[in-house]
Amino acid sequence: MERLNSLASWREFAQATRDAHRRVALVATMGALHEGHASLVRRARQNGDVVMLTSFVNPRQFSDVADLSRYPHTPDADVDLARQNGVDAFITPTLKEMWPDYPADTLTTVSVRTLGDVLEGVGRPGHFDGVASVVAKLLVVSGPCRAYFGEKDYQQLVVVRRMAHDLSFDVDVVGCATQRDATGLALSSRNARLSSAGRERATSLSRALRAARESTAPASARRTLMREVMVAAGVEVAYADIVDPDTLAPRTDADPRPARALVAGVVEGVRLIDNDAIELE
Ligand code: PAF
Repeated sequence: MERLNSLASWREFAQATRDAHRRVALVATMGALHEGHASLVRRARQNGDVVMLTSFVNPRQFSDVADLSRYPHTPDADVDLARQNGVDAFITPTLKEMWPDYPADTLTTVSVRTLGDVLEGVGRPGHFDGVASVVAKLLVVSGPCRAYFGEKDYQQLVVVRRMAHDLSFDVDVVGCATQRDATGLALSSRNARLSSAGRERATSLSRALRAARESTAPASARRTLMREVMVAAGVEVAYADIVDPDTLAPRTDADPRPARALVAGVVEGVRLIDNDAIELE
């Protein structure tokens, strides 16, 4: 695995990969790597891509400074996991290279309106501007590629797809299935901050989604059901919604097309999210 240390060397590695008629796979992460990230790398390798993994805790996507300072850092373990899973190039870009003006605002921001304002965007204003801006920058430096994102961050996936479409990025955005532990808890770097009682409570997010999926009630009743499952487990619910999978607009009871259920809540001060596909009748 090549350890690259500048965006210029990243750009060169990506270009050399294309010159060798291989496809670049971008796996963008904020470090604290786990099996969910490993699954993105494996998927890219199955497609025969040369995997380039970035690890950068992007301050511009944290509206809450305390949340940023608590974000887990496991740099040595990250390098090991990347190497063991066959990553070809690894970079931890510096803050100076990524956002030279930080902590002052960077003048250029990529904002995907509407899609970035709902659901997670309500409780975390500016979050998706930060995500879209950093992903745009990584895509520009990487050049034409396939970019792999987990469905666990479903709204992020929708925002990135839309940005890539609207700005004509030469990228194929690949969504990959959420990885779960044996209890159904979606893998997340944030889980490391939960006690064992907290992890148990956090399983209510996936249980809420399952209850909604298995219900035959209209969308409005299923929203209430998801909320009830999480509240019963002691989760402070941020939202429990059923939306259009592309526009993220709330689904009405009368609309039977495939939909997406998304939930978010706070457990022991840790904000957790989960989602799944859902069929309405
Ligand atoms: O999902 C993440 O880890 C981050 O939001 C991303 C895509 C790396 C952008 O900072």
